[in-house]
Amino acid sequence: MVSFTKVFVAALFTPASCRALLRAQIRGLEISSVGPGGNFSDPNYPLDINISAGPQSGAPSLELAAARRALKKLKDLLGQDGLKQLLADDIAAGNKAWHDIVDAAQDDDTNLDPGTRTLAEVQFSAVPSDCNEDKPANFTAVNFLGWFADSAFHHADKLWKGHPEHYGIAISANSDGTMAANVTEPWGSILTDSYVPSLMPVTGQPGGGERKPWMKKREDFPYQSVGEETLQDGGVVFGHLHYAFRDIPFDGNSSKTCGIEMALNIWMPSHTPDDVRDGISDHLMVEYYNWAGWAFQDIKLGAYVPA
Ligand SMILES: *[C@@H]1O[C@H](CO)[C@@H](O)[C@H](O)[C@H]1NC(C)=O
Ligand SMILES: *[C@@H]1O[C@H](CO)[C@@H](O)[C@H](O)[C@H]1NC(C)=O
Ligand SMILES: *[C@@H]1O[C@H](CO)[C@@H](O)[C@H](O)[C@H]1NC(C)=O
Ligand SMILES: *[C@@H]1O[C@H](CO)[C@@H](O)[C@H](O)[C@H]1NC(C)=O
Ligand SMILES: *[C@@H]1O[C@H](CO)[C@@H](O)[C@H](O)[C@H]1NC(C)=O
Repeated sequence: MVSFTKVFVAALFTPASCRALLRAQIRGLEISSVGPGGNFSDPNYPLDINISAGPQSGAPSLELAAARRALKKLKDLLGQDGLKQLLADDIAAGNKAWHDIVDAAQDDDTNLDPGTRTLAEVQFSAVPSDCNEDKPANFTAVNFLGWFADSAFHHADKLWKGHPEHYGIAISANSDGTMAANVTEPWGSILTDSYVPSLMPVTGQPGGGERKPWMKKREDFPYQSVGEETLQDGGVVFGHLHYAFRDIPFDGNSSKTCGIEMALNIWMPSHTPDDVRDGISDHLMVEYYNWAGWAFQDIKLGAYVPA
């Protein structure tokens, strides 16, 4: 009897059936995260939900905390290889979508004018509230880049957790001292399985890549990184990243700084759909917002000690 149960359970929970089960759960999660149809947090929504007894912890987080837990659990269980295997059809569709966009665009890479190329642009500053005249500023552009490189090689979970829709992130070191980044994430409606062969030096020192003539000059930003967004499958270049960083002058005095500013540009071929541009802008905003905050905290608490 026991052995029958064992055999039965073993037959039921094969890797394939577990994957099917998880796949069904992920589909369910997708549906529930879209919500039951109403925006209940809109004060004009015509339904008052008054809670007279509820969680002790105060305001309920509704599905957000649960969605984060569920995502973390599923992603941990599946692992990057498992996730990419499950997403194989979406990745293939993404590769095809990028091929079609690149083929249709025929942009001239030597032109000084970006022409009708599509640009996703995010720019923001992050300034510690306790800046003062005497203490050296440790949350600097150079230290942020150092934190990023340290995370890439020693705390990969920090990059992984920068955005819930990271399905794959693998950073590796090239023999010329630069880092390569393989990232699988949605760019709007296109699930993008990309590879940036050369991003920035592995030491986290500023630099990396040569600015294309049609990119913004960013003269006020001393630290810049340029990289080619390449399809992992087949090596077609479908985009170009240009990230720029600078320290912010403290009290308008450029000899002292406090906080950093980032200008993150991703250039895509002409006629790239708006939803793709907006999707990757949103993605960049979320992940760099999270990374800036995490770097600030690690530097402040000494969890990351700049070289
Ligand atoms: C829901 O309503 C809130 C408050 O008006 C608004 O900030 C938010 O963007 C809305 N969300 C969606 C998904 O429309
Ligand atoms: C629910 O709360 C709102 C806002 O506090 C209040 O105006 C309303 O009267 C309450 N409704 C009920 C049924 O308690
Ligand atoms: C910056 O780091 C140095 C050395 O770790 C420390 O002495 C100093 O207090 C830090 N400055 C701030 C503003 O935290
Ligand atoms: C990244 O993608 C490239 C191109 O497909 C591949 O050659 C390389 O092995 C990948 N690296 C990692 C760490 O996955
Ligand atoms: C700027 O800071 C430097 C160094 O702290 C100081 O010598 C200089 O007087 C300041 N300039 C202004 C305009 O505040």
